[in-house]
Amino acid sequence: MLCISAETLKSRFLADMDDGTPDEVFADLKPKNLGGWGVAQIAAGTGLAVYAMWVGILQPGFRKVPLRLQVPYIPASKAQVENVMMLLRGRAGGLTDLGSGDGRIVLTAHQRGFTPAVGYELNPWLVRLARYHAWRAGHLGKVSYLREDLWKVNLTECKNVTVFLAPSVLSLLQEKLLAELPDDALVVAGRFPFPDWTPSRTEGQGVDRAWAYSMKELRGCSQKNDE
Ligand SMILES: C[S@@+](CC[C@H](N)C(=O)[O-])C[C@H]1O[C@@H](n2cnc3c(N)ncnc32)[C@H](O)[C@@H]1O
Ligand SMILES: *[C@@H]1O[C@H](CO)[C@@H](O)[C@H](O)[C@H]1NC(C)=O
Ligand SMILES: *[C@@H]1O[C@H](CO)[C@@H](O)[C@H](O)[C@H]1NC(C)=O
Repeated sequence: MLCISAETLKSRFLADMDDGTPDEVFADLKPKNLGGWGVAQIAAGTGLAVYAMWVGILQPGFRKVPLRLQVPYIPASKAQVENVMMLLRGRAGGLTDLGSGDGRIVLTAHQRGFTPAVGYELNPWLVRLARYHAWRAGHLGKVSYLREDLWKVNLTECKNVTVFLAPSVLSLLQEKLLAELPDDALVVAGRFPFPDWTPSRTEGQGVDRAWAYSMKELRGCSQKNDE
């Protein structure tokens, strides 16, 4: 089971996502990762089993989260983290990562000067892993990982927000962010853009792409998009 590569898991994850996914993401993933057709079939079959196990058994902490709001853990690549950091350049102060996984975005943000850097993550094992990474990097105690449901976090004080989630939850998250974030907040989305928003900037290409949204611009010029 451990021989399933992260790429396989990733492509299964993407294949299971619903139609909110931009074509370019699929176009980018399809050809490169899999070798022969036989290998592809085995990989797809095993990948699906691993994925099912992941969601059903290995995704603890999510029992109270409705199935359609569940997002599996897919860590950001180095390039994705860099693109997010590019879009945050020039900003300072605190940073909030919604669904922080193993904490790589929070930790990198802290190392680039964001304080306090906070990650919200429901999976207790990932919270532990994130703290371990912070400890190994010598930054334990300077970054926070909170085991909380991101849907219940009060975001009214957050101004620099990063999200790496699935397209299925992004439209609902749009509403929460619009309702709670202050005007001078910047939201950076990785891998998938928000479905109804116009980004102020983007960075990178394909799966590594990241999108930055200014709340002020969204509220100013796209009233038709928020219902
Ligand atoms: C695609 S991963 C991204 C992880 C990390 N931000 C990164 O970029 O490497 C999404 C993470 O969000 C977490 N998550 C999903 N729904 C959540 C919720 N309602 N509250 C807190 N965390 C959640 C998952 O456990 C998963 O670790
Ligand atoms: C987010 O960035 C802005 C602009 O640089 C900064 O003023 C603010 O303090 C930052 N953090 C928080 C938590 O608002
Ligand atoms: C969130 O916090 C702000 C200020 O701390 C408060 O005014 C607001 O009522 C809170 N909102 C919710 C939904 O709890």
